[in-house]
Amino acid sequence: MKTHAIILAAGRGTRMNSALPKVLHTVGGRPMLAHVLGAAAALDADAHLVLGHGADLVQSWLTLSAATTMPKIAVQAEQLGTAHAVQQALPEVPDDALVVVLYGDVPLVGAGTLAALQSAASSGLALVTVTLDDPSGYGRIQRDAESRVIGIVEQKDASAEQRAIREINTGLLAAPAASLKRWIAQVQNHNASGEYYLTDVVALAVAEGVSVQTVLAVNAAEVEGVNDRVQLARAERLFQLREAERAMRAGVQLADPARFDLRGELLAGRDVFIDVGVIIEGRVELADGVRIGAYSHLKNVKLGLRSEVLSHCVLENLDAGADCRIGPFARVRMDTQFADEVHIGNFVEIKKSRIGRATKAGHLAYIGDALVGADVNIGAGVITCNYDGANKHVTTIGDGAFIGTDTQLVAPVTVGDRAFIAAGSTITRNVADDALAICRARDQRTITGWKRPQKKPK
Ligand code: UD1
Ligand code: CA
Repeated sequence: MKTHAIILAAGRGTRMNSALPKVLHTVGGRPMLAHVLGAAAALDADAHLVLGHGADLVQSWLTLSAATTMPKIAVQAEQLGTAHAVQQALPEVPDDALVVVLYGDVPLVGAGTLAALQSAASSGLALVTVTLDDPSGYGRIQRDAESRVIGIVEQKDASAEQRAIREINTGLLAAPAASLKRWIAQVQNHNASGEYYLTDVVALAVAEGVSVQTVLAVNAAEVEGVNDRVQLARAERLFQLREAERAMRAGVQLADPARFDLRGELLAGRDVFIDVGVIIEGRVELADGVRIGAYSHLKNVKLGLRSEVLSHCVLENLDAGADCRIGPFARVRMDTQFADEVHIGNFVEIKKSRIGRATKAGHLAYIGDALVGADVNIGAGVITCNYDGANKHVTTIGDGAFIGTDTQLVAPVTVGDRAFIAAGSTITRNVADDALAICRARDQRTITGWKRPQKKPK
């Protein structure tokens, strides 16, 4: 039986207090909706998305996010309840399909729970439930003396006795499409909210003699919905803890799994160490033995064997070889490549450059649009003047060159192999291989017995 996932996401999300539709708020750097679409994909389901409030913004996000397969969109212009929402998508679902109802604001639902729900539904109707110490706000699962499910009563409609029930409806449900269509057509809105409740299909199924299966969520946390920013932050931590544990099981040592922030994809080898407060974004590949220092931010970065990033670095679009040492306080960005054994120290910025093997820039430099050879020494305060106010130009530095401190390399310019630039030079013309270039104010005047300026008396 082909599975069709109907994802409800039409609600206003009032309690987020946000201009952004709730389902576009992110967990682990991706909209909650992306997680739910991922869950539908893991079920190998055709996805249907029910949109209402903020439908245009959600649709433009879908168009932009090429990664996900496009769900079919059903628009629920007026939010008349969860049954009404599901009904908007049902015409596009074939009768012989199995329907699984998911929620755009329940982002962490796991594949295990959904697979169990899917298989439990083949016999009729299945629900995911959990038992909570504090069930307030949720629909309560009603069972008969034989413990068979007979219905769900919403908090607003429940008697004091029913409110004492601690087994609650997570909202996640599955049923054969033909049955679900038949039941939903019979749902009325005679209740405290005046809404068409999806939960009413339970009593309708029971009335037809269909047995209702319940599936316990693998853990209660994964079925928690997000209604406000406090719950969003909680979902974020749960997600991060799950990812932290996955990384640790695969051989990554985290200094503190509670201070791990993955907002993309981490591909890590063995014996990788990640200190506290590190943010991993985009696709980050860390080879065996890599170490990342505290409070560094890595986005689309690849680091070779044993390379080390010290604390407080910001690295973006860097592909580095083995045994590099970067930081503390280094910034690298925009398509930069390091060969092996490159050493970039504090307060060095490197942009769109290639740096050769064992080249060092230990302190305070700006290297932009540069092709730097191997074994180059870049002194403190070296600056590639790559921008003339209109265009960017390339600086080329040959193998074994020595660039003295406080040198400006005015691009386009080439420094030859093993060339030596004296400290404080402003280099505007090419320097040949093995040459010394020196360009400073000609004379050093020395005035002996010089009296320093004195503070004026007040
Ligand atoms: C629902 C369940 C309740 C369950 C709880 C779990 C019903 C009637 N009740 O209650 O048993 O314990 O979820 O969190 O189903 N939505 C639409 N269109 C609508 C109404 C809702 O798309 O017309 C979407 C909302 O955006 C939301 C989801 O459906 O994502 C749930 O709706 P909500 O109103 O929050 O239901 P609850 O009252 O929380
Ligand atoms: Ca809710």
